[in-house]
Amino acid sequence: MIPVNEPLLGEKELLYVTECLKTGWISSAGKFIEEFEQRWADYCGMKYGIAVSNGTVALQVAVKCLDLEPGDEVIMPTFTIISCALAVVYNGGKPVLVDAEPRTWTIDVDKIEGKITERTKAIMPVHIYGHTCNMEPIQELARKYNLVIIEDAAEAHGAEYKGKKCGSLGDISCFSFYANKIITTGEGGMLLTNNEEYAEKARSLRNLCFKKERRFYHTELGHNFRLTNLQAAIGLAQLERIEQLVEKKRWIGKTYTERLTGIPGLSLPVEESWAKNVYWMYGIVLDESVSMNATEFAKCLRGKGIDTRPFFLGMHEQPVLQKLGLLKGEHYPVAERIAKQGLYLPSGLTLTEKGIDIVIRAVKEII
Ligand SMILES: Cc1ncc(COP(=O)(O)O)c(C=O)c1O
Repeated sequence: MIPVNEPLLGEKELLYVTECLKTGWISSAGKFIEEFEQRWADYCGMKYGIAVSNGTVALQVAVKCLDLEPGDEVIMPTFTIISCALAVVYNGGKPVLVDAEPRTWTIDVDKIEGKITERTKAIMPVHIYGHTCNMEPIQELARKYNLVIIEDAAEAHGAEYKGKKCGSLGDISCFSFYANKIITTGEGGMLLTNNEEYAEKARSLRNLCFKKERRFYHTELGHNFRLTNLQAAIGLAQLERIEQLVEKKRWIGKTYTERLTGIPGLSLPVEESWAKNVYWMYGIVLDESVSMNATEFAKCLRGKGIDTRPFFLGMHEQPVLQKLGLLKGEHYPVAERIAKQGLYLPSGLTLTEKGIDIVIRAVKEII
């Protein structure tokens, strides 16, 4: 079986983790955490990094920094992971959805302004599968309507918009370091910001809102969303070779594109002139001319020993959100079509040229 993803772990990861074990710094204190936070912030071009247990809670903490009033609205793409909607719902807010743009599958920036109301407090652009959103129009809207930008860069380590790194394009950005991400800590996440107030708040929220002046005295509701030194040790080792990891992803993406271009019935990932795509996962969308949907296509690939994953199902199609009385009767044609017709191919950092050959041959045979 060619897996859809496999983390690439090496000697450095082992060395740093061994240091944690030998010195006993295995919990959420220890030198690797601060070093990982600062080095990741520096890499992305931001001032503060706040490491947390995963990307989902990074988003939750980011939204909590905004102090939403019940019913305040946050605009986001429908084509994303449920973590984005949960972050808003858990903070008493309302997710307001925008359809995907058909080429990059990111939020359709032309449809955002029509969704802004006097309750809108933030926009949450999500860089999809390693391709950035078109950020300038979003930044302009944020300035015009005084909105905060919470950037979900969970899938976009090292990706760029007009030469600037994803994670440096909003007020707060959020990353995931889950095992399928370009940089992994097993489970893990981080918030980045240049805003000292947000940084302090996020640090406090991830650690039970302990007060500096008096231990075990609390004036706010906090969480234990801490990352461990063990996880940060893995992350730091990964970060030390990020350029190599990003290059490998781009090689995988470009090799797939070269070899799949011209096969009828497939839409492939793009790289817009303003973007550096890191091809976190290599997605394909089947045209209606192909006589099967993505689920059937995935089944055929599985029969040939190739693992895939389906595309996101839009937030408006999630029963759990509809049960809360949210998003009922909404339709977003682009997101609905790509959810049905899209899947991603093996894209892990351990994928070889031979592996790509096998995948391409299988795709051609099925088509
Ligand atoms: C776009 C996006 N945001 C947020 C997350 C949540 O990250 P985590 O799995 O670390 O909670 C993911 C996870 O894959 C993601 O793809």
